[in-house]
Amino acid sequence: MKIDLVNVSKAYGQGDAQFWALKEATISATAGDFISIVGPSGSGKSTMLHILGCLDKPTAGDVLVDGQPVGSLSDRQMSNIRRDHIGFVFQQYFLNASMTTLQNVLLPMQLAGVSGGKAKAAKALETVGLGTKLRSYPSELSGGEQQRVAIARALANEPSIVLADEPTGSLDSKTGQNVLDMLTFLNAEQNLGVVIVTHDEAVAQKAKNRIHVLDGRIS
Ligand SMILES: Nc1ncnc2c1ncn2[C@@H]1O[C@H](COP(=O)(O)OP(=O)(O)O)[C@@H](O)[C@H]1O
Ligand SMILES: [Mg+2]
Repeated sequence: MKIDLVNVSKAYGQGDAQFWALKEATISATAGDFISIVGPSGSGKSTMLHILGCLDKPTAGDVLVDGQPVGSLSDRQMSNIRRDHIGFVFQQYFLNASMTTLQNVLLPMQLAGVSGGKAKAAKALETVGLGTKLRSYPSELSGGEQQRVAIARALANEPSIVLADEPTGSLDSKTGQNVLDMLTFLNAEQNLGVVIVTHDEAVAQKAKNRIHVLDGRIS
């Protein structure tokens, strides 16, 4: 599966308050890619990632999923694309404190009616090195472990592409490095597409392709 942004612009607000957060961006992402998106705070990185991930639609330009314009898709079809093909990792982990590691990873698949969720969740937690912590609660895990639970949740339904928005932003550098190494491994070994938004040049250097964004424009 392949996502293309063609001359995509995104405006927030209306009239005098209208603000173009993204201007004529053209990029594509597919399985096997490892792309970093770098730029200052407020430059439009998250906006670009959300549009790539079919979480949001553009104000102008075209987004194509396997060649099909998302403009023609219903919200239901958009959510099916996310469920079947895309994993998201955010800087915040968004774990449910009252659920175990396994339950946290399982929950989105249960909500989406994915079958075999429990085995998939256990396998994903194994992949991120948390196979012995299935019954732990978030409060019993370190920050890096919690982020790995979030990554397992993103990977569990075997997406083609993972979109990660500053996934190492709240981790110390060593733990951040571990998380990055894991994404690098999955890209190399399982052909997972990885698109990672980062402030960190060292993180960006790991990617096969780097995109720099400034004031909403790819530079
Ligand atoms: N939902 C929103 N409503 C209004 N403005 C927004 C919204 N989301 C982002 N923006 C603005 O768009 C610009 C780009 O935001 P964002 O894509 O989050 O940048 P980055 O991720 O690079 O920090 C910023 O100026 C931000 O304030
Ligand atoms: Mg952002």
